[in-house]
Amino acid sequence: MKILLVGGGGREHALAWQLAQSDRCEALYCAPGNAGIAECAECVDIGAEDVNTLVAFAKDKAIDLVVVGPEGALVTGLADRLLEANIKVFGCSKAAAQLEGSKGFMKDLCAKYDIPTAAYGRFTDIESAKKFITQQDAPIVIKTDGLAAGKGVIIAQSIEEAEKTVEDMLSGVSFGDAGREIIIEQFLDGEELSFFALADGKTVLPLTSAQDHKQVGEGDTGPNTGGMGAYSPAHMMNEELGRKINDNLIQPTIKAMAAEGCPFTGVLFAGIMVVKGEPILIEYNIRFGDPECQPLMMRLDCDLLEILDACAEGRLDEVQDQIHWRDETALCVVMAAKGYPGSYVKDTVIDLGKSDLEPGTKVFHAGTKYDPSGKLLSTGGRVLGVTALGTTIEQANQNAYRATGQITWPDGFYRRDIGWRALEAEKENEKKSIPC
Ligand code: AMP
Ligand code: GLY
Repeated sequence: MKILLVGGGGREHALAWQLAQSDRCEALYCAPGNAGIAECAECVDIGAEDVNTLVAFAKDKAIDLVVVGPEGALVTGLADRLLEANIKVFGCSKAAAQLEGSKGFMKDLCAKYDIPTAAYGRFTDIESAKKFITQQDAPIVIKTDGLAAGKGVIIAQSIEEAEKTVEDMLSGVSFGDAGREIIIEQFLDGEELSFFALADGKTVLPLTSAQDHKQVGEGDTGPNTGGMGAYSPAHMMNEELGRKINDNLIQPTIKAMAAEGCPFTGVLFAGIMVVKGEPILIEYNIRFGDPECQPLMMRLDCDLLEILDACAEGRLDEVQDQIHWRDETALCVVMAAKGYPGSYVKDTVIDLGKSDLEPGTKVFHAGTKYDPSGKLLSTGGRVLGVTALGTTIEQANQNAYRATGQITWPDGFYRRDIGWRALEAEKENEKKSIPC
């Protein structure tokens, strides 16, 4: 098969690395790709949201399957355009992409089909929003309806902060048009996990779980980022929780989307708050998480292309038994440019040393390129995802940090505590299992 992978981040490097290992992969192109992806795919200089050029390229190269990494182009209709051109695609339609593209759509769907999520109100006008706020207790969660690069969620600690936030959002000051409609919702107090499932419109194939570290600082402090590290499976995951996630969230959502006339195909990523053992939906994304995808792909122990192709062809029921995960834990440490998620300098030199040579370790590139002299340069905020397997979370953590320590990048930084909740839980369990 000839495959076009859309995107150029760490998630896409992990997907490309798996796709390239398939016996059925004859050619793998990636638009736009990055320096790491170039090791396993031919990178083409087309932006991940340049729908017209992506469709033209896919036609020209007689691509058999397009795999879409990020949400942007799906929200503007890339999958629909490819299907019109008779090109198979792993990724959802524009109508189904509203699940991520409009938080209001997702919340109304949950309300209509009894899918557990935080209580909420939708607002376009400042006075009604402020009136609603005075009836709530702090903390109060305020979200832009539209996509805001992962930054459109503010957790206001007081009524005054909440009022100021709605004024700034609804007037277009803080998030432009993405904030002209907002959601105000109940604060959920619990522990978060991410869960991934494939769907082909009819059949659901649950994948696995992960936990992300969204905040920039150790101990989960400081501003939110796209994710500073992740590990899989999430330490809270067990059979009962998995069953509740599938029965209460994923299955009803897939059924609801079909009933609404926009069947969901592709990967559904549920951001979940586990409150007293019950999974409550925070948000849906229509793509793999980044960096969650990196540990997921390290654990995947089957042919990814086979699974994604079956999903795109509506035959997920045929591959249910083919999906296998390594028993090990995988953990990814993100290395970012100093200053991220604020402003940072680009084009700084990175020396990977022998980081990639450790067994069970892979350095996924996110924002990198080679200069003409062959030096590796940073080109973005999140730059590398150093990912390792281990028989325990402690081992995966040690392996990933050993590899990270071999990288020389004076202009980069990373959190030293990725997986800390799982490490603490693992130690607690060890204590419990020591006979007294
Ligand atoms: P979202 O973009 O909706 O995933 O929100 C980003 C982050 O904000 C989530 O990962 C949570 O950490 C936090 N968050 C969002 N909604 C809530 C909520 N209702 N209660 C508590 N935390 C939330
Ligand atoms: N790591 C969170 C996300 O991909 O949205």
